[in-house]
Amino acid sequence: MTNPRTTSTSRTAQAAATSAAGATSAAPAPQGSAQAPPVRALAALEAARRRTELLTDSVDEHDLTAQHSPLMSPLVWDLAHIGNQEELWLVREAGGRPGLRPDLDHVYDAFRTPRADRPALPLLGPAEARAYLAAVREQTAEVLESVDTGPDQPERLLADAFVFGMLAQHEQQHDETMLATHQLRVGPPVLDAPEPPPAPADVALLPREVHIPGGAFTMGTSTEPWALDNELPAHSVEVPGFWLDTVPVTNGAYAEFIAAGGYDEPAWWAPEGWRHVREAGLVAPLFWDRDGEGWTRRRFGRTEPVPADEPVLHVCWYEADAYARWAGRRLPTEAEWEKAARHDPATGRSRRYPWGDADPGPEHANLGQRHLRPAPAGSYPAGAAPSGARQLVGDVWEWTASDFAPYPGFAAFPYKEYSDVFFGPDYKVLRGGAFGVAPVAARSTFRNWDYPIRRQIFAGFRTARDEETPGGGPGPARGGGRG
Ligand SMILES: [Fe+2]
Repeated sequence: MTNPRTTSTSRTAQAAATSAAGATSAAPAPQGSAQAPPVRALAALEAARRRTELLTDSVDEHDLTAQHSPLMSPLVWDLAHIGNQEELWLVREAGGRPGLRPDLDHVYDAFRTPRADRPALPLLGPAEARAYLAAVREQTAEVLESVDTGPDQPERLLADAFVFGMLAQHEQQHDETMLATHQLRVGPPVLDAPEPPPAPADVALLPREVHIPGGAFTMGTSTEPWALDNELPAHSVEVPGFWLDTVPVTNGAYAEFIAAGGYDEPAWWAPEGWRHVREAGLVAPLFWDRDGEGWTRRRFGRTEPVPADEPVLHVCWYEADAYARWAGRRLPTEAEWEKAARHDPATGRSRRYPWGDADPGPEHANLGQRHLRPAPAGSYPAGAAPSGARQLVGDVWEWTASDFAPYPGFAAFPYKEYSDVFFGPDYKVLRGGAFGVAPVAARSTFRNWDYPIRRQIFAGFRTARDEETPGGGPGPARGGGRG
């Protein structure tokens, strides 16, 4: 399988097949769902398929086969690639069966053909692709019934139904990629979803930043059954005390950076970021347009005023980094982000999620494409971390200062191309997951990565500062404005 997020020209959403088994946190606490592995696996695969169908049934044949951006594959490529990876890993590898269409492997190998070149491949048409997915799924269900997926199964791929969970995450990651394609598509809207809940009443009272005390915490996991190789193993990391924005940086705060001439002042930008912003002519987040003194944005085919209180979206790492410098702050490191999201100072252990170990519910976070936008900054008090930080999971991916690197003791599983080939300084880590990320891939150890110039992904950020750096103070949470 390939990692959708990475492979090829764009690194974007993550879809890809993935890897490893492991679990979360070094601490006790049972991990994973209370459901038996085959039940959980089937439910996860079915949830992914319903979303795949929603994203591909909502457009006509032309939109399925067209390339809406050279950054993305035609939707019909993602569709059949989902089936091909499922055939490879669940039918052939896990089931030991001959498979249905091994002749398609080269067409849907993401490493073989960059996204920009995929329209030229001999792709299955929409009807053929749908029939193929259904036929593969039928065999997958038979395999799932016939293999032992218990925790004591010696074959690591099968234990706790890992490989089935890996494929459910793979399909959901391609669904996120397809959602990004929908956002890039030009034409009338075809997707619809309810609005997220309004901001809770206490938003105006939130502190602008929260304090994370210094000390060691457990990063990564060795117990979460469906964790991927790059999340393993659990290990102790010393993180000095720091301050972190209570909520992600908002559109309103980001617009202040623009109004203050942020895109014209090289002092705020990393040298390579400054070169990029000049060459690419960037003046605002992707999908924003000037409207008099204000801004509008295009969102899944609709044009609307940019909502000031919503976390900013579609900014690249360089823009996030420049904003933070302008604000007298910096991006948090990946370890700082994870400590803020998981460490419980009361018990000393790392949680699966900011709110605890329970799987995400609608009260905790904006996930799963339930809504087609981030919720207002300060939403989801029930999903707050022990520090009081909100929306660490859901709403927007958050850029961190860190390059994508292996944890000490990393071992590629089940194949090197999931993570190993991407480690290094070319990619920056994103954490937390956006509104289009499925709960099955939103645990707080999950790591995403992309090029620092990427903007079509659903990424925003929050800022941090060292304990000794002045700033902060009481003021209301406004998503990291100048302080
Ligand atoms: Fe993939």
